[in-house]
Amino acid sequence: MESQLFTKPNAEQIDIAEQFLKENFLSEEEIWENHQSTVNLKYFSKPEAILFLYEDKELVGVEYLFKRYVQLGGLQIYLAKQKERNPILSIGGEPILAGGFGNVCVKRNQRRKGIGKKLIGKGIEILKEWDCDIAYLDANIEKNGPFYNQFGFIPFKGKCIFYNSRGKRMKAQGPMIAPISSNAIFKKVLKSKKSLYLGNGNW
Ligand SMILES: CC(C)(COP(=O)(O)OP(=O)(O)OC[C@H]1O[C@@H](n2cnc3c(N)ncnc32)[C@H](O)[C@@H]1OP(=O)(O)O)[C@@H](O)C(=O)NCCC(=O)NCCS
Repeated sequence: MESQLFTKPNAEQIDIAEQFLKENFLSEEEIWENHQSTVNLKYFSKPEAILFLYEDKELVGVEYLFKRYVQLGGLQIYLAKQKERNPILSIGGEPILAGGFGNVCVKRNQRRKGIGKKLIGKGIEILKEWDCDIAYLDANIEKNGPFYNQFGFIPFKGKCIFYNSRGKRMKAQGPMIAPISSNAIFKKVLKSKKSLYLGNGNW
């Protein structure tokens, strides 16, 4: 199996990934256009890289990788009449370099053959190279939680706050974190009662 990693992917690489996702990401009963509006509203962060996996030159797996500083705890200052909007200032809190996964997807007829495992395994290696402290993703935990558990991802019980593309404050529904470079930071975040501020976009 071959892999290709595109850091700061260009429009052509994003097109290839999106076409693959359109054909393979959703279950039969879900509708692509509805999914796209959710993506545009909540999951609009630009990927740091896209990873492609090929089997005999055929594209069989895609994942988006993200990286940015998030903040554990601290104070968010909002304008008085804009309680729901982006904070104008963040004070204190602890910056944590989070790497992340999004759009993890294996071609429909190639599932349960270990390709998903390879995608996450390679992704974790890359996040290590980027020196990320922890990995973060937002998943449908009921459906995919057990898949991510095997790579060290554990549901984060605290509040994960992000801002959607309209600037509205939102809570992540299925936040999961895993240790990458620092087990100590991972444990600290996991046990913390403080909010984790993700910034703009839930990846
Ligand atoms: C989730 C997904 C990426 C898994 O890919 P895959 O190639 O089928 O996974 P693998 O074959 O590598 O599975 C690795 C292991 O996880 C298990 N597994 C796979 N999907 C699972 C799931 N949804 N729940 C629990 N376990 C799962 C497999 O049984 C296997 O275990 P084993 O090594 O003990 O046999 C794939 O089903 C997919 O693309 N789904 C649609 C898109 C999606 O929902 N992505 C996740 C978005 S959060």
